[in-house]
Amino acid sequence: MDAIVVKGGARLVGEVEICGAKNAALPLIASAILAPGRSIFKNVPLLRDVATMGQVLRHLGADVVGDRCLEVDTSSLAEVDAPYDLVRTMRASVLVLGPLLARFGRARVSLPGGCAIGARPIDQHLKGLEAMGATIELSEGYVEARCKKLHGAQITCDVQTVTGTMNLMMAAALARGRTTIENAACEPEVEDLACVINKMGGKVTGAGTSVVHIEGVDELQPVEHAIIPDRIEAGTFMVAAAITGGDVLIKNCLPEHLHAAIHKLEQAGAQVTPAAGGVRVVGATHFSPFEITTQPHPGFPTDMQAQFMVLATVADGQSTLIETIFENRFMHVPELCRMNAAIKVRGRTAVVRGRRALSGTTVMASDLRASAALILAGLIAEKGITRVRRVYHLDRGYERIEDKLSKLGATIERVKEA
Ligand code: EPZ
Repeated sequence: MDAIVVKGGARLVGEVEICGAKNAALPLIASAILAPGRSIFKNVPLLRDVATMGQVLRHLGADVVGDRCLEVDTSSLAEVDAPYDLVRTMRASVLVLGPLLARFGRARVSLPGGCAIGARPIDQHLKGLEAMGATIELSEGYVEARCKKLHGAQITCDVQTVTGTMNLMMAAALARGRTTIENAACEPEVEDLACVINKMGGKVTGAGTSVVHIEGVDELQPVEHAIIPDRIEAGTFMVAAAITGGDVLIKNCLPEHLHAAIHKLEQAGAQVTPAAGGVRVVGATHFSPFEITTQPHPGFPTDMQAQFMVLATVADGQSTLIETIFENRFMHVPELCRMNAAIKVRGRTAVVRGRRALSGTTVMASDLRASAALILAGLIAEKGITRVRRVYHLDRGYERIEDKLSKLGATIERVKEA
């Protein structure tokens, strides 16, 4: 098991290249099920979760080769069963449910179960598939979905769900007739999936808004597509540049995908300016406290909450962060408090008393974005060394973050642990 060891105090300076978006790569690889043949995805991030999705597709019988440029041939899919031992390691495997049902009329996918940050139900995925004519049975921890031919439906989601919207879009792409998804998720990754479905010959309109229309077609063709940049990786480096008082050019990112977080960072005192193919972030020595409430896109992203909590620890005053999306997404708090942060959590609200000099110690990663927050905290710890353990959480969503930070001047390394 690896750990990452950070010595604080360095000012990050230089350039960093952002990878393709994890949360676009996962649905796009699953979407290849819809189009028999060889689809090619470029700008694929080299992440554990992406490798797991490749394993799921191979289990189904697809031929999956490559890494940054990934070829997925689903000509001879033979299986419609996504087993527990794969789905439990990555709940986004549930994204094969819609495409398998659409193409084969049947799918058997392990219920993903919860994870560290919450229960993560999929009731909205199932409700929408039933509206399209599927019969859904839950047995022995599996979802068994059947439908000879899905039909279009008018679906209103009770909550805005990213993977739920994606599953329903993919199912509707091959359904008979027109489907409307109201209260759809508006994330850029949903738009990227709609772009791929349309490249395949599908007819999706409205993606990126809360009302998405899908006109079903008889068949879809394999595609070639370059995945959009990872806005959360970009945001994480923006916070790293800001809190270290650095000056970093963050390349291959689309600031329009992260307006809410960029606005908050500027409000707090950082300078964020568009630059060639990305943004330039110049940090500050003093930051104003702030209030954040996480919301579905285009609101402030829940995946940036932990990173901004580190910024709050050094702001001049008291900041408030309210987490509305997941019920247990403050697991970075006790670890940050062990680094001398002053944070009080009441329900979904965290109140952070700033101007606290953090000090390094050994901390435990608990989930993907909490791990990133602990690395950021280590970068600004005024004394001591920070050792972040269980960094396999981090490797799910960040490609060699220690190498990228080290190239920007951080004193950081990955070490093996017994
Ligand atoms: C996606 O998860 C992302 N993962 C998450 O990123 C992200 O935090 C989340 O969207 C919110 O933006 C991927 O895209 C692979 P949801 P997803 O369904 O789709 C409730 C990261 O760090 N809900 O949008 O699983 C749910 O409990 C990860 O990269 C239902 O009640 O999230 C939650 O409270 C973490 N019923 C809210 O909706 C459902 O059927 C939003 O969940 C589905 C969801």
